[in-house]
Amino acid sequence: MAKPQKRYVCQACGSVASRWQGQCTDCAEWNTLVEEAGAVVTPFAAKHHLHGGGRAIQLTSLDAEVTLPARMATGIAEFDRALGGGFVEGSATLIGGDPGIGKSTLLLQAAARLATAGRSVAYVSGEEAADQVRLRARRLGLGAAPVQLAAATSVRDILTTLSAGQPPALLVIDSIQTMHSDLIEGAPGTVSQVRASSQELIRFAKERGTALVLVGHVTKDGSIAGPRVLEHMVDTVMAFEGERSHQYRILRAVKNRFGGTDEIGVFSMESEGLSEVANPSALFLTHRDEGVTGATVFPALEGTRPVLVEIQALVVRLASGATPRRSVVGWDSGRLAMILAVLEARCGLSFSACEVYLNIAGGYKVQDPAADLAVAAALVSALSERPVPPQAVAFGEVALSGEIRPVAHGPLRLKEAAKLGFERALVPGAMAKDDGALRLTGFRTLAQFVDHMLGR
Ligand code: TYD
Ligand code: MG
Repeated sequence: MAKPQKRYVCQACGSVASRWQGQCTDCAEWNTLVEEAGAVVTPFAAKHHLHGGGRAIQLTSLDAEVTLPARMATGIAEFDRALGGGFVEGSATLIGGDPGIGKSTLLLQAAARLATAGRSVAYVSGEEAADQVRLRARRLGLGAAPVQLAAATSVRDILTTLSAGQPPALLVIDSIQTMHSDLIEGAPGTVSQVRASSQELIRFAKERGTALVLVGHVTKDGSIAGPRVLEHMVDTVMAFEGERSHQYRILRAVKNRFGGTDEIGVFSMESEGLSEVANPSALFLTHRDEGVTGATVFPALEGTRPVLVEIQALVVRLASGATPRRSVVGWDSGRLAMILAVLEARCGLSFSACEVYLNIAGGYKVQDPAADLAVAAALVSALSERPVPPQAVAFGEVALSGEIRPVAHGPLRLKEAAKLGFERALVPGAMAKDDGALRLTGFRTLAQFVDHMLGR
């Protein structure tokens, strides 16, 4: 038999190198390469060449009958919405998120709901002792739910136990980084251990029709530690996001083999656990006073779900020639620099002697390019000390030419704004078609918009 070759696997991105290096050449992370046993050619493979030795498989047509996979709704509407209707039997779901964001809390709540509804649910914690989980359940008012609880980290022990009886409908593994498979060597949490443990658990889930949920902690750059190799092994990847200092949490499908990835679930972390937020706009819109300068409401879109957020800008004139600061929370700083440049070059507004601060209220992070116009409105309002028209929302993408481009899902954004009592919308010129509920004002260029704001 061939001797296994030494190989080095990056623990951050899973890429393989033949020599140890301080930095991964693929993802540029430092000190992430760890030696792992390489692939060994089996005697069977050595005996048969590529086109022999296997069984014939049956090829069928695309339009053959299909049975839709059975879904198991958790009863937590925001969770089910993000999942696309509930957990799918015999599938694997990975839920990733920063430590302490509330993954265990969410899954314990979902597990308790399903167990109370009569499903068999097993919750295996590799991080907390059984008593800790029990105390948490009690604090959440779920102490009486018939969840089968275990504190274990050995995949073999877990699967031996579960194989003995009727397999559970739902199996939660919290977290996959604490699991250990004895099929291969290595400490829990390394790429190969995470991969091997997941493989065994997923095989069990597929064979027995159990819906498997793996909890995974993420690294600071947002990838699920131990890491992307897991993302393609599972059917569904969910990201649980939010700022620990803020209450809200967003559950987002990153990948879903059984549904779309454009729905989100919104929760708020309360003293009695995560509660559903059916109307996220109300959560992010802080109390609004009329006549305040430097604030605009932006109807952002999360998948197909509109969320109204407040964009705040503060502009401080500097007396000396010191380099002014630009500080952004919740938005892209490169994009802010671009809007400032367009305001200067195309509209004759100079921010070069001013410090500029931009903040999205409520700790929300905006990634939607449609925020450009709302940001520009907040900046112009802060600079000119004139308030943005009250009861107005703004959206539109700003091009380097100063043109205001139309954006996706205008009607959805307008509908949400109308629902929350807004009366006006400042929109791209091309989108200023009449809308029943709102008065629309369209602008073709940013210069036109600035003239309007300044009453020129
Ligand atoms: P947890 O679910 O343990 O996070 P994860 O599993 O993602 O690491 O969440 C822990 C945090 O949630 C902790 O900092 C306290 C907070 N929390 C509440 O605010 N209310 C609650 O009812 C619970 C259970 C936790
Ligand atoms: Mg946890």
